[in-house]
Amino acid sequence: MSILTALQDPAISISLILVFSGLLSYRWSGSLRGKTKNLPADLGWASLTPILEYVNRREDFIRDGLQRTKESIWRFSFMSKTVIVLTGHAAREGFYKARSLDVKEGTFLLAFVPPIPGGAVDVSPADHSTILRRALAIQQPDNMQKVLLPQWIEDSCRLMREWGTSGRIDPCDEVYEVFFYLILRTLTCVEVMEDRETCEKLKKLYDEMAFPTNVEGIYFSWFPGYNNVKRLLSTKRVYDIYSKVIKERKASGVRKDDALQLLLDNGDDRTITMGLMMGMVMAGSNSVGRIGIWLVSFLTTSSEWRQKIVTEIKDLIESSTGDSLSPKIPLAKQLTKLSLDDWENKTPVLDLVVAEMLRLAQPHAAVRRNLGPDFYIDGKLIPEKSYLVYPFSDIHHNSEVYPDPLEFRPGREIPSNVPYAHLGWGAGKNPCTGRRLAKMQLKIIATIFSLAYDPSIVNAESSPMKLPNPDFNSVIGKPKEEFFIKYQPGEFTL
Ligand code: HEM
Repeated sequence: MSILTALQDPAISISLILVFSGLLSYRWSGSLRGKTKNLPADLGWASLTPILEYVNRREDFIRDGLQRTKESIWRFSFMSKTVIVLTGHAAREGFYKARSLDVKEGTFLLAFVPPIPGGAVDVSPADHSTILRRALAIQQPDNMQKVLLPQWIEDSCRLMREWGTSGRIDPCDEVYEVFFYLILRTLTCVEVMEDRETCEKLKKLYDEMAFPTNVEGIYFSWFPGYNNVKRLLSTKRVYDIYSKVIKERKASGVRKDDALQLLLDNGDDRTITMGLMMGMVMAGSNSVGRIGIWLVSFLTTSSEWRQKIVTEIKDLIESSTGDSLSPKIPLAKQLTKLSLDDWENKTPVLDLVVAEMLRLAQPHAAVRRNLGPDFYIDGKLIPEKSYLVYPFSDIHHNSEVYPDPLEFRPGREIPSNVPYAHLGWGAGKNPCTGRRLAKMQLKIIATIFSLAYDPSIVNAESSPMKLPNPDFNSVIGKPKEEFFIKYQPGEFTL
């Protein structure tokens, strides 16, 4: 039996993991020694169980924790590490105002940290902030207006044209793919985008690299088990694809208008380059792609909001260009006449739709580590070195703040008297770095979809069905049931 075959056997893999975890729990001394006063209530389960629960049924786990401990701030331990789960208004405010909480250190708890350059776990703080700076540079207005905006519109129309004017798509595949390519376009290079085969290969490899939902992949990413080895091989293949492009670009001396050129012009080393082109592509496409799936799906259920978008864009085209939106001219040609300012500042309906989607469908839980010293949140001790989790569903799905929270109601009030009531793009010290580009991409797809299709939600037999809710137990918010989008031509042509 080869090592890889042996590791494929769950029993062997799990046994090895348990041995390693035992060793680790011995090595890591508990951070709570001598601290008992005002500690959050302990869930008190065996060491590996909470992690399995946290990963595979997070929402239920958090609800159960609340019920078992009867406290809004409670803790569980994982290999001698203390993890504190926060819920409630006071806890959220304390979490976002605390100065000693660190997002990068907190990624120990993230359920999707890839073991790759740029994955938050293995870059230095200095490199991490350079990668963030490059992501922000890409979103400078000049680059967005002249380079990215027209490319995103043309790419989206081209990819959606491939769906045909009528038919059926699985949004988790087809819609996700469009967003993936938009992120690839934004954060990588022209050479990749000009070669459809490479794009498809990358899509497959990123899929293999992303979102481990097994304990081995999430909490033992250093362990040479079958899944980790497979992910590592995919990572290496992606790395090799980019390395080849970089080498050829440098040798040719040809300049291109893309993210890679920005990196080369800055003299960035491999850590930064791969951090952006691998780590950021993966994080970015997952965030925008997952929200994008729900955006298109919820719009499918609401002809009212699709119509509002159509009216908004028709009026905007007229006021900005003096022309009427024509059903005969391809959309890409007409939509590229709108400026960045038009899209960003003159589309209030799209703003409402995006904000509602980020509230309703985002499965995120913010994770941090307290770098020290000890401090208190809502009267509970937050020990130095402990990990903290704040699940967004705590506020976004709170029916006292948002009545019928799982109903799609763009335009619903975001109460100003509730602290941090909408966390769609994060808050405090670590708001989303990709917000500007992600918001624009969501607006573009929502617009094209509303203009070009007359859609409905159907099941596998193509019979009408109600849109299932996102499954918030899944770290990626996948649908609770399989569904499809069936469509006929809308008013405008792609
Ligand atoms: C709809 C799409 C997106 C949503 C809803 C979203 C949401 C968020 C949220 C909520 C946070 C804060 C996380 C926390 O507090 O733990 C965050 C952080 C971040 N986002 Fe996004 N994001 C999206 C797209 C993107 C894209 C496309 C990129 C990359 C180009 C990106 C890059 C980042 C980075 C680098 C951070 C961490 C910032 C830091 O460490 O200070 N995001 N995002």
